[in-house]
Amino acid sequence: MILHEKIAAQLPEWRERFKTLAKEHADVKIDEVTVGQVVGGMRDIKALLTDISFVDPAEGIRFRGMSIPEVLKLLPRARGGKMPLVGGLYYLLMIPDYVYKMLRTMPKDTHPMILLTQAVMSLGVNSIFARRYKEGMKKDAYWEPALEDSVDLTAKLPVIAAFIYRYKYFGEKKKPRYNPKLDYGANFARMMKVSDKKGYADLARLYFILHSDHESGNVSAHATHLVGSSLSDIYFAYAAGLSGLAGPLHGLANQECLAWLLDVHGKFGGVPSREDLYKFAWDTLNSGKVIPGYGHAVLRVPDPRFTAQMEFAKERFPEDDLVRLADMVFDVVPTVLREQGKAKNPAPNVDAISGTLQHYYGVREFDFYTVLFGVGRALGVTANYVWARALGQPIERPKSVTMKMLEDAVAKASQPA
Ligand SMILES: CC(C)(COP(=O)(O)OP(=O)(O)OC[C@H]1O[C@@H](n2cnc3c(N)ncnc32)[C@H](O)[C@@H]1OP(=O)(O)O)[C@@H](O)C(=O)NCCC(=O)NCCS
Repeated sequence: MILHEKIAAQLPEWRERFKTLAKEHADVKIDEVTVGQVVGGMRDIKALLTDISFVDPAEGIRFRGMSIPEVLKLLPRARGGKMPLVGGLYYLLMIPDYVYKMLRTMPKDTHPMILLTQAVMSLGVNSIFARRYKEGMKKDAYWEPALEDSVDLTAKLPVIAAFIYRYKYFGEKKKPRYNPKLDYGANFARMMKVSDKKGYADLARLYFILHSDHESGNVSAHATHLVGSSLSDIYFAYAAGLSGLAGPLHGLANQECLAWLLDVHGKFGGVPSREDLYKFAWDTLNSGKVIPGYGHAVLRVPDPRFTAQMEFAKERFPEDDLVRLADMVFDVVPTVLREQGKAKNPAPNVDAISGTLQHYYGVREFDFYTVLFGVGRALGVTANYVWARALGQPIERPKSVTMKMLEDAVAKASQPA
């Protein structure tokens, strides 16, 4: 397996670097933790290690040092497609029957994220990592079955997602048929059976790559890492990640953003004037709501993942009403947010456009959008999971403090020196 060999070749050097940091420089301070960070959801505390991706506030995500435009330019392309191959491997695609049976017995109105999470958990029955661990494997070897499980999981996810889509919204009980000759994106488009318009395979490629990773501090990545650090297998770990992704503050923003655009479109019977949109945006803020798709906890510029998707839409269907509207929102909303003066970043994030693209191709079941996110996110978090085992990263165990301890620290800091 090429992936296996590539990791094995790089491992000695990475392990040496990790060991040197852990053994020789453990006392070097890289950050101070403030009271604000403790009471503010550990925001920005530099406490996680990953080399898979890094979010620069002034530039956006880099995957292994490459920016989004570089990734989209340099990765190999699918034949006939403009977007790079996602790299799914299909030789392990025998999804056990009991997974489909279980999904079919769930009540019809079950949320698709519940179905996806259950399916992922149930695949853990065959975890190679769990079996090998039970048999007694050496710590040095953890990463190998971790990689096998991760490839298995990422290969199966688009098939399971497509099954959930066809089953839940169209009542189809048959297993999706994948074609081993097609790539990840083309197979997904085929199994989803969503569109007679060209380009959904390319959108799937773009979408999965863009959603794969955003450092390891976001909820889905961190939850996966945390659970994995206890040496749970990737099926347990990613089920935890998906459970976090299902929360409204994480994976739901894309559907809220599309709903906001559709509200505008519905209210004005099409694309409004700039002035009407300006007023609508202010009305949203004045009613105490946020404008979905804008702002970011880390970024301080337009999200390059937004830019890549906007370029995709403008190149292929610039006349689509929602694309024109999303473009006008990009022009108007940052001004409104700047005038309001609260948001630290008035620029769009990835969610400001992703739902619009799905809508164009006919995927209009909002609940399903987080499942799409879940298929993409797996690519990044499983890579992190494999490397965490390869480097022998320990179980995560931050320390709690009491409110009194914080108050004492504040009192001490405010005493004259
Ligand atoms: C993404 C988000 C949660 C980041 O939160 P954050 O790091 O706390 O953002 P900030 O530090 O800039 O927030 C400062 C203030 O600006 C407000 N603000 C930030 N983005 C805003 C937006 N899009 N619309 C209105 N107000 C916004 C915050 O609600 C906060 O208000 P408060 O002081 O009354 O609590 C926030 O920007 C947001 O809610 N955006 C809209 C939802 C969204 O797009 N989510 C997807 C994120 S990928």
